[in-house]
Order: sequence, then C-alpha cells, then structure tokens
Amino acid sequence: MAREILFNAFAMNCVGHQSPGLWRHPDDRTTDYTSLAYWADLARLLERGKFDALFLADVLGAYDVYGGTPDAALRGGVQVPVNDPMMLVSAMALVTDHLGFGVTANLSYEPPYVFARRLSTLDHLTKGRIGWNIVTGYLDSAARGMGESRQRGHDDRYDVADEFLAVVYKLWQESWDDDAVAADKARGVYADPALVHRVTHRGAHYDVDAIHLAEPSPQRTPVLFQAGSSSKGRDFAARHAECVFVSGPSAKVIAPRVAAIRAAALPYGRGREAIKIFSMMTVIIGVTEAEAQTKLVAQRALASPEGGLVLMSGWTGVDFSQFDLDDEVRHVENDAGRTAMDNITRADPGRTWTVREVAQHVALGGIGPLIVGTPSQVADALEAWVDETDVDGFNLAFTIMPGSFADIVDYLVPELQRRGRYKRAYREGSLRHKLFQDGPRLKVPHPAVRRDKIGIKQEQDAETVTA
Ligand SMILES: Cc1cc2nc3c(=O)[nH]c(=O)nc-3n(C[C@H](O)[C@H](O)[C@H](O)COP(=O)(O)O)c2cc1C
Repeated sequence: MAREILFNAFAMNCVGHQSPGLWRHPDDRTTDYTSLAYWADLARLLERGKFDALFLADVLGAYDVYGGTPDAALRGGVQVPVNDPMMLVSAMALVTDHLGFGVTANLSYEPPYVFARRLSTLDHLTKGRIGWNIVTGYLDSAARGMGESRQRGHDDRYDVADEFLAVVYKLWQESWDDDAVAADKARGVYADPALVHRVTHRGAHYDVDAIHLAEPSPQRTPVLFQAGSSSKGRDFAARHAECVFVSGPSAKVIAPRVAAIRAAALPYGRGREAIKIFSMMTVIIGVTEAEAQTKLVAQRALASPEGGLVLMSGWTGVDFSQFDLDDEVRHVENDAGRTAMDNITRADPGRTWTVREVAQHVALGGIGPLIVGTPSQVADALEAWVDETDVDGFNLAFTIMPGSFADIVDYLVPELQRRGRYKRAYREGSLRHKLFQDGPRLKVPHPAVRRDKIGIKQEQDAETVTA
C-alpha cells in the first residue's frame, strides 16, 4: 500500500514569510504575528488538519544583500522585522495535544550549554513534541550583529556544527541517568548526585565542563531537522538529521537530491526509514478550477517581485538588484547557502531562468513548486511528486495566512484521506514516535547515542565526539 504523506506547515515569526507583499491581501492575518492568539489559532487549525508539525523558520540578520542595504526588506516586510520563534511554542503546546514543533535555531551565535537547556525546557513543556531545525545561517548581516565582519566559510560552518552537536548530545543524552530524579519527599532527595554526570568537552570551538541543567525530558534530544543539500550539507544530514527539508522548483531537481541524501546515510547504518524527507511546496486550492485561478490572479497582483529578489539575494549572497530583469541567471559560488543558486542554474541544465522569472516565482511561496487547482488536482500533483522524488512529505508554505492552511485542512486533507494517503488520527506519543513509530529516545546507530554506554563496540563511529 502507498505510504501516508506527511505534512509540515511552514511559517515564521514575521509578516509574509515566503510570500512577500501578500500581507497586504484583505484576507491575510500575518500582520497579527505579534499576538499570541494568532499563533494559538494557527496551532489549533493545524492540529484539526492532523499536520505532523509546524516548522518555524528563523533567520538571524536582515536581508541586506539586495542593493547593499536592508531598505527594500524593511519597506516590504521581507522577513524583517522578525521575532524569536521559540517564544511561541509554549502557548501553542498548551492549546494542542499532538502537533509537533520544528523550531529553527542558528547554532553559530550561541553557546551549546545555554542552547541545550532551552531545548530541554521546550521538550518538557511540549511533552516531547519538540524538533530543532539545525541551521548555521547564510547572512553576513547576522555576523556583523555579533561583532564579526562576515560569517564563517560555508564548509567551516558545518565543521563547527558537528562539534556543537557533539556537545549538546553529551548534555542531553549523558549527563543525567534516567533514574537520577528521585523526587523523594520522605527522604528529602530530589536528584541523586551519583547519577548526574559532568560533561567534559575540549574541542576546537567549544569547551564545556558542567552538568546539564535540565533533568531528562521525554525525548532528551529533540527530533533533528536539517536542510543542507550541498555535498558538505548532505554528509551532515546523513549523519545527524532525522528529517531533511529539500527545496527546488521541479521533481527533476529534487529526485536526485533525495537519492543522494538516502545514499549518503547508508554507510552510517541509516536506511530508508531513518530519515524523513520533506519537499517544499505551495498550493492554492479552489473548490473549482475557476475559483483557484481567481485566487491566483488576486494573489499575483499583490505578490512583490522585488521582495522575491530580496529573499533570493539573501539566500544566494548575490545582489540581484544589479541585473536587468531579462538577464539569465548565471551560477556563482560563495559563502551563502549553495542550494538556492543551484536550483536555478546547475540543478536542471535544461531549464534556464531570467531574473524576472525568479522574482515572480519566489514571490509566491518561495523556490518550491506552486500548484493551483481543485483539491483533487492538487492531491494528484502531490501523489505524483512523491512517486517521482521518493520524499515522505511536504513543507507547505502559505501565500495567505491562515487561508492557505484552512484550505488544506478543509479540502486537501479529506481528499488525501479518501485516497488512503493521509492519517485519519494521530499516533500517541512523542514527535519522534509519531514520525518513526519509535522513540521517544534516539537509538543506535544515531551518533547522539554512545555505543560504549550501552555495551556496543565502537568500531565505525560516525561522530566526532571529542571528550
Ligand atoms: C526548506 C528549507 C528551510 C530552511 N529554513 C531555514 C531557516 O529557517 N533559517 C536558516 O537560517 N536557514 C534555513 N534554510 C537554509 C539551510 O539551513 C541551508 O543554509 C541551505 O539549505 C543551504 O545549505 P547548503 O549550502 O548545504 O545547500 C532552509 C533551507 C530549506 C531548503
């Protein structure tokens, strides 16, 4: 039987997210992003649609590559202003029972000791529904905010990330034994000091000599999400990620990336079931084709092509304001993200893109494909995409908030359920258990789990634990 398709909703603690300009649409509520009620309503809606998770993007730094200033980003509300995504999770967890939360956090600018506690806290408060989207950033503006002149080199960022993970794994997995908390009122012992271990780490980038501050949470290590597709990013994903996000305009671009990630994971003992891969997708749904097309026309009229280029310039590190709109985009390699540029240059040599095409495409949901049609047409397209690319599900970007997600919940989900391609009920348990029917804790061969601790010989360790 065909697999069930997984759904993440893709959003960010700002206006518009990946559909610049559409915050002006009369039905759009993203300008309420500073209110808790807005996020609580979204969480309830997604849980009604049995979404697996809300994936919250986050970007440190302003998009100032376009034109060399943040002016266009500020004028258009293009992912700036942007608030902290982690602050939203507790409130959304309180009004839901099952929805997972994949929160993005950039590890380049904070110490692992502090970060590990924040995630443990959220794993407790969500009862094991927290995931972490591991990112290292792509904007020099973030580095300047942190006293550096520019960000680290592309591949170096992944090396730092490896060491960061080695440290947080030790804090989450090894500092507290499962039975360390006695909470014994009669004896007056809360935790048994003999069962709480100091973590020591001396590495190139981090030194830690401390116990983890939080007691063991349901999952210990949050579900690990990641989105690098460069060769270095792919190797990182192959070792660490439980969920990988891919993004590209066509199945032809995505299918080889998915195959490459799955192949890269095999030598680490991580087979087809170890990694769930989600493809970015934007859908505009109408009950009739005509209604869907009417929505598209109204949304196109308000989508900001300049905003699309502001985003693209930030993702690629290339100032798209310097080109003529009819210029063909040519490949450039630098220290920003690699994949956004590949998508419109090398990934599909049969398809060239002008700057104008990029601007218009990215302005409606980002670089993923846009599918417009009836629930049945959209379901056909998603099924075909899964068959062609071997992904497990989708990160659904919105054009109108919450209308895009309401249409998915009310029309697309029932259609996929009728086809046996979407869950009718949530599984019980942690986010890891819901996604993998396993958990709540990570298991061997994931590098977070020390084989020597559980009596397995360390032969071919993939991790760089530098205790
Ligand atoms: C679907 C998707 C979502 C992403 N979300 C974020 C994000 O929220 N914050 C961020 O800094 N980077 C984000 N990224 C960028 C990735 O972390 C990474 O920098 C990018 O994919 C380039 O990696 P590469 O150079 O290894 O291909 C995202 C990428 C994708 C494909």
